[in-house]
Amino acid sequence: MSTPPLTLWRGARLATMCPGAPWGLIDDGALLVEGDTLRWVGAEHALPPALARQAEHDISLDGALVTPGLIDCHTHLVYGGHRATEFELRLQGASYDEIARAGGGIRSTVTATRVATDALLYKLAAQRARTLMAEGVTTIEIKSGYGLSAEHEARCLRVARRLGRELPLTVRCTSLGAHAVPHEYTGRPDDYIDAVCDWLTMQHGEGLVDAVDAFCDHIAFTPAQTRRIFEAARRLGLPIKLHAEQLSNQHGAALAAEFGALSADHLEHLDDAGIAAMAKAGTVAVLLPGAFYFLRETRLPPTPELRAAGVPIAIASDHNPGSSPGLSLLLMLNMACTLFRMTPEEALAGVTVHAAQALGLAQTHGRLQAGRQADFVVWDLAAPNELAYWFGRNPCRRIVRAGVEIES
Ligand code: NIG
Ligand code: FE
Repeated sequence: MSTPPLTLWRGARLATMCPGAPWGLIDDGALLVEGDTLRWVGAEHALPPALARQAEHDISLDGALVTPGLIDCHTHLVYGGHRATEFELRLQGASYDEIARAGGGIRSTVTATRVATDALLYKLAAQRARTLMAEGVTTIEIKSGYGLSAEHEARCLRVARRLGRELPLTVRCTSLGAHAVPHEYTGRPDDYIDAVCDWLTMQHGEGLVDAVDAFCDHIAFTPAQTRRIFEAARRLGLPIKLHAEQLSNQHGAALAAEFGALSADHLEHLDDAGIAAMAKAGTVAVLLPGAFYFLRETRLPPTPELRAAGVPIAIASDHNPGSSPGLSLLLMLNMACTLFRMTPEEALAGVTVHAAQALGLAQTHGRLQAGRQADFVVWDLAAPNELAYWFGRNPCRRIVRAGVEIES
């Protein structure tokens, strides 16, 4: 069997995100890529000459900053329509909750998604994915949750899977049937949960699911209903995540931690017991500054307490048409610092190493380290704290995903 060609990237300022130094920084760094994998990472002077000689291609980066490929670990990328009119209503004083309770909100996007063809859903989602990718995103999570029937949920998950096959992007698919009660189940949320649990088995049988999520809140599902979703996921051996404590404290994060959740997401109303449960279970806190900003929330997630408890914090776009229509993960870094008081280094960890952990990819993604997938970004920047500093500017120069440079 022939070995794949080796490519040497040298003269880089590597923010490896490995422990040991701030940012895992290595000046005058080199990366040796073999096929889709990082074969060697370190200071250029330490590169064994025998390895260097094997490199077929030699690329010099003149001191440019290199980071791991960015990971957007919470998106709802597949949907039809938009909610700009709802945005206007909110600006005039209507609340997100009121709009949802009146049958708008998620349900209005469900209507628009159900009438969209597979081809249109794919085209729209691919455009959105490409926008994220242009800023260095090499891995994303995509949730269903705007189909809310067996047929339409599966359709959305198939679109997400297809994105992973056709774009140079790692896609993790999360089933979020328990996002809202669709109109045909109005007044019968428990019957709807039964149906969601049945679909899950079918979706899993078709290989469409990497994780299972639910929306536990006063406008969505109760902890008891959420528990039933988690039990169904557990029976299938699927990891879980949860939209928890976004609008109210339902103690969802503690429930998610009880099931060993990969992550609990949003968390503005998280309490100390929830933080302790997450710390014990190793559940990642995924903070979503785009939704906080766009819904004009005022209650901050407990960043200092999460930090003190040692809970890993990830940052994501939460791209969706209702609460976070943004498509810039770099802007989320900036907002994580300005709104949530994270440090720029924590923010970058939030879209690399901790985002990988939130997707169950902790061993393979999120760091520049030998043996991991060769996903990295070359930036028109000198220092890593600039990533969270600039906004409205895309400093991404080159992107390598699974060892292959992406043509821009
Ligand atoms: O993550 N919180 C629940 N779900 C989405 C918003 C869904 C919508 O409004 O369409 C979120 O913010
Ligand atoms: Fe979300």
